[in-house]
Amino acid sequence: MSILAINGGKAEYNASDWNSSNKATLWPVYTSEDENAILEVLRNRQMSGSEITKKFEKAYAEYVGAKHVLGYCSGTASLHAAMWACGVGAGDEVIAPSLTYWATCAAAISLGAAVNFADIDPVTLCIDPKDIEHRIGPRTKAIIVVHYLGHPADMDEIMAIARKHNVKVIEDASHSHACLYKGTMTGTIGDIAGQSMMTGKSFALGEAGVIITNNRDLYERCISYGHYERTGVANNFNSSERFITDPELIHFAGVPIGGRKDRMNQWCSALGLVQLKYFPERVAKIEEAMQYLCDEMDKLPGLCTHRPAKGSGTTKGAWYSSACHYNPEELDGLSLDKFIAAMVAENLPVGPLGNFPLHLHPVFNEADVFFQGKPTALAFGQRDVRQGKGALPVAEAARSRVFRFSRFVSLEYKNEIDRFVATIKKVIDNRGELLK
Ligand SMILES: Cc1ncc(COP(=O)(O)O)c(C=O)c1O
Repeated sequence: MSILAINGGKAEYNASDWNSSNKATLWPVYTSEDENAILEVLRNRQMSGSEITKKFEKAYAEYVGAKHVLGYCSGTASLHAAMWACGVGAGDEVIAPSLTYWATCAAAISLGAAVNFADIDPVTLCIDPKDIEHRIGPRTKAIIVVHYLGHPADMDEIMAIARKHNVKVIEDASHSHACLYKGTMTGTIGDIAGQSMMTGKSFALGEAGVIITNNRDLYERCISYGHYERTGVANNFNSSERFITDPELIHFAGVPIGGRKDRMNQWCSALGLVQLKYFPERVAKIEEAMQYLCDEMDKLPGLCTHRPAKGSGTTKGAWYSSACHYNPEELDGLSLDKFIAAMVAENLPVGPLGNFPLHLHPVFNEADVFFQGKPTALAFGQRDVRQGKGALPVAEAARSRVFRFSRFVSLEYKNEIDRFVATIKKVIDNRGELLK
């Protein structure tokens, strides 16, 4: 029986096997067409402005099937604007899943609101619809949903709760490019979505993001918040009845209400136009490769990959940050930490979850953003919705039950995929060594 690398045996891979020359896992895919599009922006000295961005917004709106897309300098900025557009202000509350990246909800604090964190569903790892309704109070303005690691959240249940209580739904679609929920593109189901397009994301443009919405009013609010050169033009973007007839808002033309300059830079927009052309075909290849890989991984004891049921119309799109549920009870109690350490010693591209439960983070509990001598979460008359350790057990346990692994981009690399699975199997088969 082979000796595990963690115990002095030979590692199955070299660390350099996963660098940018490995086409099996290389993502994003950029070609000379992407390079030329960026160079053209540079040569034409068009880095600022929004002409190319407007073209990208139109193309992306068509791709996702939404009426409006607005480009942002980051996903963080897009989510901030989406919250403000939904009316989140001082003294309000939003509901968000505890296990996510901070940008899903941290802007609530800078708007003077509090975050009422909900637990996650143990299977989807997205906000648990059963943990939402009892959290809604008179000041709740929005439920923020993250399609975590590309697994769509249970939108039917969430939308039903939101509509019943007249609360807006903001999708954080930063992990869910190309992911479908029952056949509909994530990011187009709630009232508005914010989405990151930074380098690590499935649709990767550098530092960029978008809002997506079918609601003209929310779109225009986002423009007025941080897209100064587009604000206040009644016959252009602010064409809805209210904005045309509200002299106050036209009066604000040229100065963003949010005091922000949030637009996407045009290098990113030019890159986005090229990326979008090839995205659907690349996503289809990823889907085929990842379904095969997950089928093989699911044959191993203790592992159950994080993916929607096949044939449900719900998909993981471009498979951002693939994940696997880990059941130590099926592996003689081997802890996930030890299992990951042994896989990493073999130089497998795997790792622990990158996020931690936000309800325990001091920014959401103690930070005094407005220098008022009290935590912002309470400073504007909110109920105290802060929660301590033990309050959201599924989110708190996730790091000991789930690990992440690499995305393979095509079934062309089936041999590489088989070797990857065989190496995981080597660790599982030799777990006795790790338990000593
Ligand atoms: C779930 C989630 N929301 C929001 C963001 C913020 O996006 P950005 O980094 O583009 O600001 C990220 C990642 O960066 C994220 O993973």
